[in-house]
Amino acid sequence: MNIMLFGAPGAGKGTQAKFLIEKYDIPQISTGDILRAAIKAGTKMGLEAKKFMDEGKLVPDSTIIGIIRDRLAEKDCVEGFILDGFPRTIPQAEALEKLMDNMKISLDRVISLNVADDLIVDRITGRRVCPKCGASFHVEFNPPKSTDICDYCGEALIIRKDDTAETVVNRLASYHAQTAPLFDFYTTRGIMAEVDGTKDVLEVKEDIFKILG
Ligand code: AP5
Ligand code: MG
Repeated sequence: MNIMLFGAPGAGKGTQAKFLIEKYDIPQISTGDILRAAIKAGTKMGLEAKKFMDEGKLVPDSTIIGIIRDRLAEKDCVEGFILDGFPRTIPQAEALEKLMDNMKISLDRVISLNVADDLIVDRITGRRVCPKCGASFHVEFNPPKSTDICDYCGEALIIRKDDTAETVVNRLASYHAQTAPLFDFYTTRGIMAEVDGTKDVLEVKEDIFKILG
């Protein structure tokens, strides 16, 4: 099962990816998480990406495509994977198609989590994330069982550096200009499915499970 979660920043991609990992036992590939790990490790790629991320701009396609090429070649992707936050531009989507063609695999489903812009700011400014496993929570909408502790791995939760009201505006602008056109790209290929991402977290999960079977 090769799945892609599609949607605006804060639409719930990371939250839903965790449920899919548990159900299908396949890895989540979040380019955002990979970039944040590279920043933490202080690599050259991480330091270059940081400038773009802090401003809410997209990291250059060449960097992202390189990351995905390496990640899909890893052993744990053999049974399938969940793409979260990739592809985000038409060139990235075209590169992914080529890469998957060469690997003789294809995307089975793209799930679009539909959430209007006016709900996104509250979601992002109240978010708490796990620096270890990448899980996402929300102080009000999706609180962890113990305050500021990750349900999945027990790590102390943090606030992402790009989760400010100012950066969200830029991230939404990047999304509409560069990422939203992928909706038609995948609709044309007949693999797009839409979900109302404004429902409660667990209702969204059930809707996705129904689509994937
Ligand atoms: P990335 O980490 O991918 O961030 P993003 O796309 O902005 O998405 P988010 O992680 O903010 O949102 P999400 O959809 O995962 O929502 P979540 O589940 O956490 O990318 C960060 C940066 O890296 C980018 O800006 C860019 O610079 C760079 N980058 C990454 N990939 C790239 C690429 N391919 N190309 C170029 N650059 C790239 O949920 C959000 C909040 O809402 C949480 O608090 C959650 O608890 C809450 N919530 C979730 N579902 C619900 C619900 N149903 N109801 C109420 N609240 C909910
Ligand atoms: Mg995310």
